[in-house]
Amino acid sequence: MFFGVFLFFFASPLFLQTAVAQEITVEADKPGAAIRPTMWGIFFEDINMAADGGLYAELVKNRSFEFNNPLMGWTEHSSVPGNGNILVLNRGAENPDNPRFIRVTHYTDGEYGLSNEGFRGMGIKQGETYHFSIWDRPAAPVALRLELQNPNGQPIGSARLLLNPSTDWKRDTISFTATVTEAKARLYIGFEGQGVVDLDMISLFPQHTWKQRPGGLRADLVQLLADMHPGFIRFPGGCIVEGRDLTNRYQWKKTVGRVEDRKLIMNRWNVEFAHRSTPDYFQSFGLGFFEYFQLAEDIGAEPLPILNCGMACQFNTAEVVPIPDIDPYIQDALDLIEFANGDTSTKWGGLRAAMGHPAPFHLKMMGVGNEQWGPQYVERYKVFTRAIKARYPDIRLVNSTGPDPNGEKFDFLNDTLRKLHADILDEHYYRNPGWFLQNATRYDHYDRNGPKIFAGEYAAQSDKVVSVNNRSNWQCALAEAAFMTGLERNADIVQMASYAPLFAHVDGWQWTPDLIWFDNLRSYGTADYYVQKLFANNKGTAVLPLTRQGSPLTGQDGLYGSACIDSAAREIVIKLVNTTAQPQSLNIRLDGVRKVSSPARAFLLSAARLDAVNTLDNPTAISPVGTSIPSQGKKLASTLAPYTFSVIRIKI
Ligand code: AHR
Repeated sequence: MFFGVFLFFFASPLFLQTAVAQEITVEADKPGAAIRPTMWGIFFEDINMAADGGLYAELVKNRSFEFNNPLMGWTEHSSVPGNGNILVLNRGAENPDNPRFIRVTHYTDGEYGLSNEGFRGMGIKQGETYHFSIWDRPAAPVALRLELQNPNGQPIGSARLLLNPSTDWKRDTISFTATVTEAKARLYIGFEGQGVVDLDMISLFPQHTWKQRPGGLRADLVQLLADMHPGFIRFPGGCIVEGRDLTNRYQWKKTVGRVEDRKLIMNRWNVEFAHRSTPDYFQSFGLGFFEYFQLAEDIGAEPLPILNCGMACQFNTAEVVPIPDIDPYIQDALDLIEFANGDTSTKWGGLRAAMGHPAPFHLKMMGVGNEQWGPQYVERYKVFTRAIKARYPDIRLVNSTGPDPNGEKFDFLNDTLRKLHADILDEHYYRNPGWFLQNATRYDHYDRNGPKIFAGEYAAQSDKVVSVNNRSNWQCALAEAAFMTGLERNADIVQMASYAPLFAHVDGWQWTPDLIWFDNLRSYGTADYYVQKLFANNKGTAVLPLTRQGSPLTGQDGLYGSACIDSAAREIVIKLVNTTAQPQSLNIRLDGVRKVSSPARAFLLSAARLDAVNTLDNPTAISPVGTSIPSQGKKLASTLAPYTFSVIRIKI
């Protein structure tokens, strides 16, 4: 159907006769700013169950009993009262990073066992192999009856694992295959006979993770990222970097090395919104800094880690480290560069090699703080910048301009950091669609010689910021597309941009809108996702002037546009956004080219209604439709249907 609509508006002679065509000129012989490979990227934050319960494919929740409530997620099952019990023990002195374990005592009468509910259930697939592992210390031999069960308790996959006696902790494993697909399964562990056994790190992973890595990432979610071909990945946040207070901040050194030694902490989004409280939201750090770097490498994105700069979230405690005590924070930044790039003979480079990656990760940039503001940030900016540049002058630093794109906080940091010659300023905008349309010209007026700009977090809000009523609808996505033509036109100063937040679990989210939604089995990209993907997959190498009556197309008659050249493909790439309810006829004239191949390729993103959305059941309702447009000489005639975003690629 979309194909038909598209053809009608692009090629119908009948239609072209009825509309007055506007002339658009693209000057192919006047390439402007280079478009960096990093231009369109992604921003991953562990919000909305994006890591545990999402990208990190672990199916067992609270696998090491370290949640505040040590048995959260676990249920005891006993067919005869008193035929077993669980004791939570703490070996803090011996293992401060993973202190708790459970001691299960079970007797021969009836059935005794434990089940784990997973992250809002476990997504289990028929025919898939599951790898179970457990740390154990049995006093005598113990047999575990493992079952994947559907919500009615019926088995959908099972195995029997014999644990031999041991005075030391050991790891046992077994794999088994599921017989049924189930989105809300649980894992049951039955204890046979009589005995006492200590247990910890009870884990279940599917075989098919991204790149089949054991203990790896959910393949469908990484695939959605890889398909975007993002130029960079900013991680791990966001407010999660800051923490509600400084003890709750993100500390990268606690997220590398063996997973069982990565100290779990509460996820700050657990308690952020009373109306979206998520009491079972913690960070196991199974997805830690090594995995982030590896993910970046896998999907061809430059890594952009963001580090705490000695400031906790200013919306929460606003706790700061006094400047005389800030050295450990700076050392973390220096050590991270060594971890990413250092020789394997160095302490942190050696750890990277021990984790399986002797080659450097080629870190080139780093963020100092997330969304900080005020003079305290400037003080910390200065000491971090001095220390990092002294040792690593080539690392480019990304700095905060606060939570808003204007106002007192923004003006103060924008002015101050410009005077201090910051490398890259990170701007955040969560605003309504109208703001995005009005701000398509925002960067036309920026100082061309000042710091570069990173549009680090943005998303059009259909309702208002942090409202649960926000929807990733077509109106928002269209406004973002219009705005992004302004980013592209200003690629000399805007060098990176990323939508936020990236992921959300349909049963575990705190913040909406989001780019990609998933449940335990399925996932889909929103309309905004396809806008991002079209920009990133059609980024080109240099900006070309695109004008109507001599001026850039920045909203005249509700039309927005930009153009670039993709010199490797020898193609002109034109992006056009019609934000109106009217079809718009255009004659596109290509100046400065010798010859144009016909037809041009085009990709159209559209929806019948501005409130249209993609859903789990209809995941590609709004997704690009490919077609072609014949050219006549160096001209293309096309009519943009109402409410459409089009990308046209013309071979020259
Ligand atoms: O993207 C959600 C949050 O919005 C981020 O954590 C924070 O940086 C911003 O306030």
